[in-house]
Order: sequence, then C-alpha cells, then structure tokens
Amino acid sequence: MEIFVVPTASATGSVAAGILAAVIRSKPDAVLGLATGGSPLPIYKALAGHSVDMSSVSGLALDEYVGLPAGHSQSYAEVVRREVTERLQLDPAKVAVPDGSAADPERAAAEYDSAIAAAGGIDVQILGIGHNGHLAFNEPGSALDSRTRVEVLTERTREANARYFSTPEEVPLRCITQGLGTIMEAGHLLLVVNGADKAGILAAALNGPVTAACPASILQRHPHVTVVADEAAASLLASGSGQVAVRVEGAAAGV
Ligand code: GLP
Repeated sequence: MEIFVVPTASATGSVAAGILAAVIRSKPDAVLGLATGGSPLPIYKALAGHSVDMSSVSGLALDEYVGLPAGHSQSYAEVVRREVTERLQLDPAKVAVPDGSAADPERAAAEYDSAIAAAGGIDVQILGIGHNGHLAFNEPGSALDSRTRVEVLTERTREANARYFSTPEEVPLRCITQGLGTIMEAGHLLLVVNGADKAGILAAALNGPVTAACPASILQRHPHVTVVADEAAASLLASGSGQVAVRVEGAAAGV
C-alpha cells in the first residue's frame, strides 16, 4: 500500500488524477471504477485538465440508490453523467451505473457483476470512505466477500447524504452496491480521503484489524492500493506500519 499525504482536498484530486492519467496513457481502453460522493469530485475536475484521450475509456459506477425516479438529479446515474461522463467527454455508451429503478433490483445487481466481468474487470477503482467505514454502500457488517447486491442504508449514511436532498426523508432507504468481493477484484484501488472528520475511520481502516465492522479495512488485503489523503484526514495514521507514506507538497501536489 502506498499513501500520499497532500496539503488540501484539491491536491488529493491533482495527485489522484495524475495517477489515472498515467494509467490511461499506458492503457487507452482502461476500465475505471467510478465513485460518487464529495471526495472524488476534485479528481474528475483535475483529470479534465490533462490532455489525455479518453475516447476509449470505460466507466462502471460503484453504486446507485434504489427507487429514485429516472433522471433524479441526485441519482448516481445523473451525478456520473454530469461530473464524469460530460466533464471527461467519455463515450456515454461506455459508462454504466447499476439500474436503481429496475423492477427487480436484485436481478439488476447480479447482472451488474456480469457487466463488470464482460468489460474485462476494472483496472482502477476510485473509492471514497464513509464515516462508518463503508466502501461504496457496503455498510458495517457486509461480508468481506460480498457481491453486487441490494443493501439497506444505515441512518448514519442517510444523514450524511441528506445534504444532497431537499429533505432527509427523501434519501432512499436502499441501494445497489458493488460488493466488497467485487471491489477487491479490481486491479488497483485508489482511495481518496479528505477532512479531519475522516481521520479516525481512515486510521481504523488502514491500521486496525480487518473486520466486517469496518468494511474499508478490506483494503489491507488488496495487493495494489493507493491512498491519497489530505493532511487532516491522514493525521491519525500510524507511522512505520509498513505502508509507504509519501508527503507531496508544492507543485507536485498541484498547489
Ligand atoms: C457515499 C458513497 C460512497 C462514498 C461515501 C463518502 O454515500 N456511496 O461511495 O465514498 O458515501 O462520501 P463523501 O466522499 O461525500 O464523504
């Protein structure tokens, strides 16, 4: 595992985008795993500033709410369309999001795992982390080998995501999420984390025991993980734990 510590949230985007641009230059038809939430947004903004041909890149989203009407501005299908597909000028036909408005969401979830396999698997999976340690929408207690499936959101997650909706009640109760086992099959996991409010859970995930109580702790078992964290989020990480930590400052951090 390599950990880049940068001064600001926007610098997490610059460093992570540099990694993605290098991947796409060496593999123009790379398959990216796309995360939503606030943390990855600086990546997409920074990646749009790289002169790299994105026309053959595919994208597969991590998760989606169940039950929002098609076209709802906060559905992840719409967020991915606005923030990723349009910004990076990806081919919309090469971008997929789990179908949260399917008549049979369980079936849509199983089909999504097949779609990932049909794409040849995910080369780089972008990830954020929830305050309770969730990865995608794998809430605490999720099996470490879980597949893409329908999950019930915790109240903590619904509260955190209420900021995107007009009322807290509007936040859906369920979602389709890539499973932890699904995420672990990606070739490279790229976790971006910002803010002091994530410091405790990031330290638990990277330095604590690997346990379903903290789903993001599964990262410790993946052979190729890059963490890009701002100083506030990295402030409680143990030093000398065998992980390679690099402090990136100045122009190299894009600041
Ligand atoms: C969301 C997403 C996750 C994301 C997490 C943290 O609900 N489903 O994929 O990583 O919560 O979001 P944020 O980066 O906004 O804190």
